Amino acid sequence: MSGTLFGLGIGPGDPDLITLKALKILQKATVIAYPAPDKGDSLARSIVESHLPGNQEEIIIRTPMVAGNTPAHDVYDEYAVVIEDHLEEGRDVAVLCEGDPFFYGSFMYIFERLAHRYDSEIIPGVSSLMACAAQANFPLASRKDILTVLPGPLGEDELERRLADTDAAAIMKVGRHLDKIVRVLKKLDLTEKAIYVEHATMTNTKTLTIAELEKAKAPYFSMILVQKRGEAWV
Ligand SMILES: C[S@@+](CC[C@H](N)C(=O)[O-])C[C@H]1O[C@@H](n2cnc3c(N)ncnc32)[C@H](O)[C@@H]1O
Repeated sequence: MSGTLFGLGIGPGDPDLITLKALKILQKATVIAYPAPDKGDSLARSIVESHLPGNQEEIIIRTPMVAGNTPAHDVYDEYAVVIEDHLEEGRDVAVLCEGDPFFYGSFMYIFERLAHRYDSEIIPGVSSLMACAAQANFPLASRKDILTVLPGPLGEDELERRLADTDAAAIMKVGRHLDKIVRVLKKLDLTEKAIYVEHATMTNTKTLTIAELEKAKAPYFSMILVQKRGEAWV
């Protein structure tokens, strides 16, 4: 019998924010796989490191960080074959996904290649959206609020149009798009209705107002939250 492919949401950074279900699967799987940059350590593996039993085979999915909309298809083709070999041999493979697997997660490229042929199970995780709101003490949306999730790489005009047309927003993938996002917030007079969070729930987390952000550089793991009433309960 073939093994099962698990898409394992492991939460936004704090190792305690993994669900019990994900923890049980993590510790039972024969093989774990996780994304890592071209060079350097895997954030996903570091999140679960203290939970690992130490006897598992590990597949490091080295993915180049490329700008734009196209995932590294050849890389996912290659690793899908490696994972498939294990599944064929009856070994369960748990692919670690920072936050939640289906919320902007690269796991979906593995899922796309294998889930129609093997048993697969997705374990939802605490996503960065919820983690950032909690970290910043920033309730996001209530009642009839429309909450919009916006990728930072969007063009400036589209970002402005979408932000103008919502009650609350989470702007993801801030990184090198910080200046553009701050310009749009200023134009819409939203700087005092927004908050910046980096590395939510990790030991190096930081929460700043937009005014405090002047001249700051944002890492990839950062987000800006907006609530137009300022306080969601008002
Ligand atoms: C490829 S997406 C992955 C999202 C992830 N699957 C989730 O459910 O949160 C990466 C983006 O998520 C956001 N992100 C993920 N973890 C974060 C954290 N701990 N603190 C702040 N932002 C985070 C950042 O905006 C980052 O650019």
